[in-house]
Amino acid sequence: MRKFLTSLVIILAAPFSIAAGGPSVPLDHIDNDLTDTASLQSGAKLYMNYCWSCHALGYARYNRVARDLNISEELFTEFLMFNEDKFGDHMSNSVPVDDAKRWFGTAPPDLTLVARLRGTDWLNTYLRGFYEDESRPWGVNNSVFKDVGMPHVLLELQGLCAEKPEPLGEAKYDPLTGSVITTGGCQSYSIEGSMSTAEYDEAIYDLVNFLDYMGEPTKLDRIRLGWMVLGFLLILFIVSWLYTRELNKDIH
Ligand code: HEC
Repeated sequence: MRKFLTSLVIILAAPFSIAAGGPSVPLDHIDNDLTDTASLQSGAKLYMNYCWSCHALGYARYNRVARDLNISEELFTEFLMFNEDKFGDHMSNSVPVDDAKRWFGTAPPDLTLVARLRGTDWLNTYLRGFYEDESRPWGVNNSVFKDVGMPHVLLELQGLCAEKPEPLGEAKYDPLTGSVITTGGCQSYSIEGSMSTAEYDEAIYDLVNFLDYMGEPTKLDRIRLGWMVLGFLLILFIVSWLYTRELNKDIH
């Protein structure tokens, strides 16, 4: 009995210990929507063009992703596949690990499961968190990944933030007029990108949405099934309740 109670306490306390070890840096929250297929398609396009050359998606297959994202085989093979792979292959790349370690200090990890490991808020902050830092080999640092080995590969889109971006939602006010000057994010750019801040945030929304889908392609099915099971239990409860009432009628 004592063993049972100890195990129960450990199990119940586990989520709190994980929460206690949480991030010390504030993260920019994202409410992504896995049912938004257009966003997932746009995320896939960004990923294959800007990320896949370094980060494989080795646990996923092209044909499954194409089916889930409602992209035809012709379009997928023509615009989203960049080597001789077959449509049914895993989405691996051929980055030479030893060379990559030399170039970046560490080999770029596979990102199939990164959303489950890091969480979507962290990814949203990380991908919007690059800023200029001349002391680093690639001239950039990151607000949630200090001394990161990855270059700012989306610089042409975002531009280069001159200083560490601030957490979103922290409004600053003009001392004279009292009006809001900023609600966080990048405050000034040392290089302009091709996108506005809002457009870049939107692109990162799509990218994070895609990585979230990648981490658990059956998430939507699982949620749908969960509701169906709850619905079934509810019906079962009503039927059992009516039945018990019927039986008890004769007793009283
Ligand atoms: C030129 C190669 C390269 C490209 C292209 C690239 N990355 Fe990276 N990335 C790296 C390297 C190297 C690391 C490891 C950094 C470290 O550990 O210091 C990394 C790390 C990461 C991490 C952190 C992984 C973790 O959990 O530690 C994420 C997330 C990530 N990259 C996302 C992306 C996304 C999204 C793109 C496309 C927009 C992208 N990367 C493009 C090289 C690259």
